[in-house]
Amino acid sequence: MNIQALLNEKVSAAMVAAGAPEGSPAAVRQSAKAQFGDYQANGIMGVAKKLGGNPRDFAQKVLDVLDLEGIASKTEIAGPGFINIFLSPEWLGQQAEIALADSRLGVAEDQKQNIVVDYSAPNVAKEMHVGHLRSTIIGDAVVRTLEFLGHNVIRANHLGDWGTQFGMLIANLERHEAAGGNISMDLSDIEGFYRESKKLYDEDEEFAKTARNYVVRLQSGDEYCKEKWQTLVKITLEQNQRNYDRLNVSLTDKDVMGESMYNSMLAGIVADLKEKGLAEESDGATVVFLNEYKNKDGEPMGVIIQKRDGGFLYTTTDIACAKYRHETFNADRVLYFIDSRQHQHLMQAWTIVRKAGYIPESMSLEHHAFGMMLGKDGRPFKTRAGGTVRLADLLDEAEVRAKKLIEEKNPDMSAEEKANIAETVAMAAVKYSDLSKHRTTDYIFDWDNMLAFEGNTAPYMQYAYTRVASIFAKAGIDANAVEGNIIIADEKEKALVSKLLQFEEAVQSVAREGQPHIMCSYLFELAGTFSSFYEACPVLNAEGETKQSRLKLAALTAKTIKQGLSLLGINTLERM
Ligand code: ARG
Repeated sequence: MNIQALLNEKVSAAMVAAGAPEGSPAAVRQSAKAQFGDYQANGIMGVAKKLGGNPRDFAQKVLDVLDLEGIASKTEIAGPGFINIFLSPEWLGQQAEIALADSRLGVAEDQKQNIVVDYSAPNVAKEMHVGHLRSTIIGDAVVRTLEFLGHNVIRANHLGDWGTQFGMLIANLERHEAAGGNISMDLSDIEGFYRESKKLYDEDEEFAKTARNYVVRLQSGDEYCKEKWQTLVKITLEQNQRNYDRLNVSLTDKDVMGESMYNSMLAGIVADLKEKGLAEESDGATVVFLNEYKNKDGEPMGVIIQKRDGGFLYTTTDIACAKYRHETFNADRVLYFIDSRQHQHLMQAWTIVRKAGYIPESMSLEHHAFGMMLGKDGRPFKTRAGGTVRLADLLDEAEVRAKKLIEEKNPDMSAEEKANIAETVAMAAVKYSDLSKHRTTDYIFDWDNMLAFEGNTAPYMQYAYTRVASIFAKAGIDANAVEGNIIIADEKEKALVSKLLQFEEAVQSVAREGQPHIMCSYLFELAGTFSSFYEACPVLNAEGETKQSRLKLAALTAKTIKQGLSLLGINTLERM
């Protein structure tokens, strides 16, 4: 049940009945303080101003026709013309019953859309580094949320699998093969292999000649080069998959739609843009001049789509890619989870896509940008030697640190259980510390913070779940089989149920804004609300109906935390 949406609808209808224009926004929000009720409608003042009357008088007219029979126990006008809505405890109890009995926690499915999510997108023959981490885990959380709402989600891993660097990589692969080495061993340090190839290219003229020749052959579809190229792609994908699996990221090989996939479209697009008068020759290159963007001299910015030597660019590929996503998937929305430094690149590509009419206006292209991951010193996150941090090394370190922590907390557990808990906590900590931050800002990567059992952290949330689950374990009660009704008698019970029923609002916001931190904040608040409830309202020591009702509230809390974390791609533990 989306209470906010329900109230918005009811209050808007009342506003129209009271004389406001059709579609006037009620602007219902969760109240900031309990004294203002559970929800507050803020839209009255704006409309009253337009109608030219006293806002409080208009609010009264709205209240006269507002029908919240059975939903609210009280409504009142506050301040200059707000409407405070106090939900009825009986109604809240019924909604909680519905949520508890439903495997979807009462969350309705959305009108189904085709949604492409472009995320992760590492590069071939390059190690996945921390920069790809953000895209991967934020994108995956949004994918899970959209699927939960019933959408047809297409995961698109826009792998960097094309470019002139493949000439030197193929030439070096050939060298290794000729030496009879074990290729997958030789390339286990793929970044090292890349550096070695570059060094040979820079220092060995013979090698460079071969490499340049391979670029041309690869681009013209030569079988030998294609096969070598595929080997490089395959090895990179295998290495990435290990990271995805460890991180419980839902991407697989099937989701790879690399840059190379769009090759066959590029020449046609350049020709078409010329024909449409959007692109022109300039200094031998093909350029689109965009009035929307000015260069430093205030002149329209030129975006190169084909170089003098005939090569295409990253922008050309992204133009083709958006077109493809319309033609192949009939996408309603495309969400790109990419570093904020690529914003201008995307805007230029999409401006061209729209001008050329490659996609319908209704198709939404969204850049969900994110900031950088910084070290404790506030500078970009690097190894002590100043290099980029390998993702795999980062995950290893997380496990070592979590192991130590769990060891200290539970010296008596079996080694196997400790290892399992440590692994689950470690991956959760890395993910949650990223997901819980506002996506667009840079954030400081801090081991101590992310592994703390206090604050808005993964260990805190996982532990909050374990604590609720342990109520049932301790009493030997099956959380799924509690009898009786939910009865709301105490303020703390009401507060908990209201919070529980805001789950759907959190899910919807994440889906709309592509900001998983909204779910993290919601879960953190829920855990806090549960703690205050649990302090004030004994559960196992309560009697009769009250005990049953409180057990049900605990069961719904556990289910909601588990579901919420699972939408973030984070696992829960029954013991930790
Ligand atoms: N491979 C690129 C990089 O590592 C990211 C690609 C993002 N997706 C896109 N459609 N441009 O920076």
